[in-house]
Amino acid sequence: MFKGKTIWITGASSGIGEALAYEFAAAGASLVLSARRLEELERVKAACGKQGAGADDVLVLPLDVTDEAQIAAATKAAQGFRGRIDMLVNNAGISQRSLCVDTDMATYRRLFEVDVFGQIALTKAVLPVMQDQGSGHMVVTASVAGKIGVRQRTGYCAAKHAMMGFFDALRAEVASEGIKVTTITPGFIRTNIATHALKGDGSEFGKVDKNIAGGMDVGKCAKVIMRGIEKGKKEIPVGEGSEMKALWVKRFFPNTLFKMVEKMG
Ligand SMILES: NC(=O)c1ccc[n+]([C@@H]2O[C@H](COP(=O)([O-])OP(=O)(O)OC[C@H]3O[C@@H](n4cnc5c(N)ncnc54)[C@H](OP(=O)(O)O)[C@@H]3O)[C@@H](O)[C@H]2O)c1
Repeated sequence: MFKGKTIWITGASSGIGEALAYEFAAAGASLVLSARRLEELERVKAACGKQGAGADDVLVLPLDVTDEAQIAAATKAAQGFRGRIDMLVNNAGISQRSLCVDTDMATYRRLFEVDVFGQIALTKAVLPVMQDQGSGHMVVTASVAGKIGVRQRTGYCAAKHAMMGFFDALRAEVASEGIKVTTITPGFIRTNIATHALKGDGSEFGKVDKNIAGGMDVGKCAKVIMRGIEKGKKEIPVGEGSEMKALWVKRFFPNTLFKMVEKMG
């Protein structure tokens, strides 16, 4: 299903994006890998080779998703690579570790720039390409935090809720044009997300916390996402901790869920 497809992944230098790159490479896709750190993208490209991708099958395309000026040129380069973009995986993101009262507005704005406006800007740039093709697939790595609000994540939860709303609404707009939309809602996955999360003053949290350290293996997570995309799922929950049950509790017993999260540390 992915053989010969061109798939553009943001946040491909680490974590879920990196693991997805390996899965798509093994499935025979051509890849465009984006993130800010060139050397990490080159490392991922080299490792895609071990999954069977040739050097010509992977384009490294450094991009800061918050830099709108770069987005048009990057989209042209991504499209120029194979003449089309079959899938955009909007996966770049940063998290938060701070209480609302301690969080500067600049930190909230930064979270929204990366997690919301960066994704919207890139999606808007790629959408006309897919409309011209008459097909395409928009994928976004949202989060369980896009469904449930928890302590120390007011900005992150707000951003991920925004992404769920944006992509659900987009799906309704583009379904008749042959363009699919998939939202992914991971629980805790073992990546560098906590280390790079923002504290209230905008500095990095700088360490792995208990939830992430005990989270799902990222390779396993990527396999679940691949299976979900293959099955044509519109929403892909992925994780193996109690946070996944919380999704169900929120849906059917919201007041129970609100009480549960108040008690969480
Ligand atoms: N791990 C979890 O438990 C979890 C749970 C739910 C959702 N998610 C979501 O999954 C996605 C991937 O996160 P991860 O867990 O794999 O964390 P990660 O290992 O920290 O990866 C984050 C990726 O985003 C990229 N990135 C950050 N800021 C960027 C920017 N301004 N422009 C372009 N790329 C940027 C980073 O690359 P550079 O630093 O090289 O730019 C990196 O490749 C995020 O959207 C995150 O919110 C993660």
